[in-house]
Amino acid sequence: LKILVLNGPNLNMLGKREPGIYGSQSLTDIIEQLTEEAKKHQIELSHVQSNAEHQLIDAIHQAYQTVDFIIINPAAFTHTSVALRDALLSVDIPFIEVHLSNVHARESFRQHSYLSDKAVGVICGLGAQGYSYALSSAASYLQK
Ligand code: DQA
Repeated sequence: LKILVLNGPNLNMLGKREPGIYGSQSLTDIIEQLTEEAKKHQIELSHVQSNAEHQLIDAIHQAYQTVDFIIINPAAFTHTSVALRDALLSVDIPFIEVHLSNVHARESFRQHSYLSDKAVGVICGLGAQGYSYALSSAASYLQK
C-alpha cells in the first residue's frame, strides 16, 4: 500500500515559522517519524512539499492509479485553491486533510476549506501528531 504525503507552502519553514502556532519540530523530523510509523503498517510513504501550487497538482496527477491514499496539509492553498480540489477529485484518491493549528480558532479566512467536504476526514489543532493520526486512520481505511 502506498500513501502520498503532501505539504503546501511555507511548511518547509516548520520549526522556525511561528513556533507558538506550528510547533518546534521541522518538517524533516515529522516526515522521518511518519515514515517509520508507515513501515509498521506495511505502508510505503512518499512525500512532496512545495511552495508552488502547480507542483502539488503535478504530484497529485502522478499519484493517479499508483497511490492508494493521500494525506495533505495544503497550508494556505486550503483557503484559496479550487485547482487543488479539482486535482484531488480528478485522480479519485481518498484523502485526509491535516492542519497543525486549529484553523477554527484563528482568522475567519482560515475557516473555509476548498477540500474538507471531499475529504475522508479532517484533522486540525493537534500539531504534528495530526499527521500520525491521519496515517493510522488511512491504514485502517485501506485495510477495510
Ligand atoms: C495550516 C493552516 C493554514 O491556515 C496556514 O495557511 C498554513 C498551515 C496548518 O497546518 O495549521 O500554512 O495548514
